[in-house]
Amino acid sequence: MKPSPWWKEATIYQIYPRSFFDSNGDGEGDLPGITSKLEYVKSLGVDAIWLSPFYTSPNKDGGYDVADPRDVDPMFGNLSDAKKMIDVAHSLDLRVLVDVVPNHFSDQHVWFQAALKAGRGSAERSRFHFYDANPDGSLPNNWISLFGGPSWTQVDDGQYYLHLFDSSQPDLNWESPDVAEDFDKTLRFWLDLGVDGFRIDVAHGLVKEDVLKNHPDPQSLSDALLLHFPMEQEKRYALLQTVPFFDRQGVHDIYRKWRTLFDSYADRDVMAVAEAWVHPPVNATRYVRPDELHQVFNFDLLDAPFDASNLYDVISRSIELMKTVDALPTWALSNHDSPRVASRVGEQQSRALSLFVFGLPGSTYVFAGQELGLPDGVIPDESRQDPIYFRSQGTQKGRDGARVPLPWNGDSAPFGFTSATPWLPMQNSWKELTVDKQSADPKSSLNLYRNALNLRAEHLVNNGNIEWIESPVHGSKNQALLAYRRGDVSIFMNLGDSAIEVEVTGKVLIVSAGIPDGRDGKITIPPVSTLWVHH
Ligand code: GLC
Repeated sequence: MKPSPWWKEATIYQIYPRSFFDSNGDGEGDLPGITSKLEYVKSLGVDAIWLSPFYTSPNKDGGYDVADPRDVDPMFGNLSDAKKMIDVAHSLDLRVLVDVVPNHFSDQHVWFQAALKAGRGSAERSRFHFYDANPDGSLPNNWISLFGGPSWTQVDDGQYYLHLFDSSQPDLNWESPDVAEDFDKTLRFWLDLGVDGFRIDVAHGLVKEDVLKNHPDPQSLSDALLLHFPMEQEKRYALLQTVPFFDRQGVHDIYRKWRTLFDSYADRDVMAVAEAWVHPPVNATRYVRPDELHQVFNFDLLDAPFDASNLYDVISRSIELMKTVDALPTWALSNHDSPRVASRVGEQQSRALSLFVFGLPGSTYVFAGQELGLPDGVIPDESRQDPIYFRSQGTQKGRDGARVPLPWNGDSAPFGFTSATPWLPMQNSWKELTVDKQSADPKSSLNLYRNALNLRAEHLVNNGNIEWIESPVHGSKNQALLAYRRGDVSIFMNLGDSAIEVEVTGKVLIVSAGIPDGRDGKITIPPVSTLWVHH
């Protein structure tokens, strides 16, 4: 049998380069900073790193506004720093994924600047979506930007261009052959430099079929698209199936071509993961058909409440859906776009949830800082940088809280992250959360992650599907307990605040909190804790 490729059940560590480690004292993380901390990354027991963008960018949207996709922004270093980082990662047996941002460029990209100069009807403008206003003076359509406000901005000669995100992020027109050709060049550029694959930003957004068609209820749609906007589930689901600019059939043609390009690096095991927010959830499976991409993000756990029946539904549905295309799901509890899991569900809950998720089949993504149990930063409004905050006139606070720099050592901010003022404020209350402090404490979140990821590799990876354990509590269903078995390990999560005794024989491998008590074929699982038993 062919061995499973590395990415099938990998643990992938997401680094937000601005916030990882500052090597040159400008308050911003950089590539040499990342390189200098790769031993630390390796010590976590992960298989790969994924870096959010570090390309040339005016940094209006944290680098997701790319002005030159084939160069490094001076804030992060240069191309030889990138090469060095990739080489050092490989020498530690860590794979490297980089972000590719194909839905839009920055307005500072040479193409957009040329389009502004060239004027209406030009080949330069056809690489973007430029339109005139309607005869009644209204905008070409009524879509609302995902960052708030209209999704059209007017240029000097009166035409408008489409931007699903910030006005500094003009959407690319994938009907222009130049666009596809340029992205092939970008993919090859980074593969030739040595990367092992890509995270594809807004992978579901590239093709816009009916650019001039209005949506019947753009405001409700815009609310539904905000992950944490309160809305009745059914209403949200119905609305999300009407997004006119996402998940068009044409995107799949693009990924089939990309797959051919990836596979042409025959001896490299290149992989790509799609950021695709699609509805209904079954649509996500299309991105991982055998001739398309390797993985698609599953965002369900990013906002799932800490509730047994909800987690059961989300997890079992994800596994079942992916089976239909012979793929495995992916799991993420945090990323740079959503509140950190320790803040969202609570610190002890997030430890339990992490340990529960680490046993599941498929790849797991860990957002840097998650291993420390880092909460969201407290960001004063004057320090905010996220365009969502500005475009929503402050009604949405945005994502800066999740993007705080990492605390490495010392007793006060900036905790060794930088010798200057960090680009986002760090909290003195993180004193007990630094890498140094936690490394020395066997009970810390950091050591829990290290132990768990090593045990995952040893006992769980490539061990087939899970079997839910229906009623381990003396034959009755306990609403606070969720459990499954995979291979020769059973994993129990007690979500409630009192201990639960389960009937099971075996050796406790790890527990996320508290001290389990085991005898006579029974084990007591501490409150708000996950425990792995080896049979
Ligand atoms: C993706 C990124 C997010 C960015 C957006 C626009 O959703 O994860 O950070 O703002 O795309 O590029």
